[in-house]
Amino acid sequence: MEQIALNLGERSYKIIIADGILDDIGYIIKRQFSWKKIMIITDSNVSKLYAGRVAASLENAGLQAFVEEIPAGESSKSLARAEELYNAALDCRLDRNSAIMALGGGVVGDLAGFIAATYMRGIACIQVPTTLLAQVDSSVGGKVAVNLQRAKNIVGAFYQPSLVVIDSSVLSSLPDREFREGLAEVIKYGVIKDAGFFRWLEENASRLRLSSSDLVYAIKRSCEIKAGVVSQDETEQGIRRILNYGHTVGHALETIFGYGTLLHGEAVALGMVFEARIALLRGIIDERTFLRIEGMVRSAVPVVMPYEPDRDRLIEIMSLDKKNLNEKIVFILPETLGRVGVYTDVTKEEILQAFTIG
Ligand code: GLY
Repeated sequence: MEQIALNLGERSYKIIIADGILDDIGYIIKRQFSWKKIMIITDSNVSKLYAGRVAASLENAGLQAFVEEIPAGESSKSLARAEELYNAALDCRLDRNSAIMALGGGVVGDLAGFIAATYMRGIACIQVPTTLLAQVDSSVGGKVAVNLQRAKNIVGAFYQPSLVVIDSSVLSSLPDREFREGLAEVIKYGVIKDAGFFRWLEENASRLRLSSSDLVYAIKRSCEIKAGVVSQDETEQGIRRILNYGHTVGHALETIFGYGTLLHGEAVALGMVFEARIALLRGIIDERTFLRIEGMVRSAVPVVMPYEPDRDRLIEIMSLDKKNLNEKIVFILPETLGRVGVYTDVTKEEILQAFTIG
């Protein structure tokens, strides 16, 4: 069992990672916390696989468990669905000595975290992510949100969980495409913070699904890097921005093609290669570094754009990103393997040139 601490003073918490830990979750919680009731929020896909096991584990440890199932998919991340869940929480008589558990991927984690952040002005939250993407990214760091029709993740909070429990064995039920999209974020950590981890991924990424110890290591190293960054900058005023490498272009591609056409991690994979190319064109990285990033990303996350996007529209979408500063598009560009910088001076011409070559 691996344990990582995310240090944020009184709001510090542990991230526990192991292969096959799901059935122990009740005892893990019971040992550390005094909650009496736990409402498990899960989706229609994950529910039939794992909700019964997790609820049984909680009950065996003497906790009262309630399961609330939402339809799988991004459209559940809405205020209307949130209202239903607040009412369910009231029906179960959840109080401030209760907790919400998010059992699922990014949609469940964001929505359940949002409920926990706002029900009774905030009750405890446990993240139990069941996709690789959620295990290495969205379950850690406290970003919670719902969507409005016209804008994704626009109503939300930074609200840290009290505990994150990651069982790598649940990934065996994940379709290959979804496993690979999660690898995009894993590779991202190597590029932004750890050249040694990047090298390790070059050698081992192709067999992660075959080796549980390697998979636990990849998840652990990713969470360690993310926890280190978030501990320094919880609300993304500075260094946390580096976690957005690949996301400036990635988000724009997701928007232009419509959510769901490309998976989030696939869009980020394309974004990482594109943004590395901008760094190459600027002379920030050399050709060898660019080719290593491109080779790693393309072999781990095979994806092609469904069609050639309208470039002006893409730039327009990037310029509306909520992460921009003083109306300037923010790019995170690799400077060498293991280090990135924040750039706000990338011109439209450079973006277009990177597209032309790509
Ligand atoms: N997904 C990037 C972050 O949590 O900051």
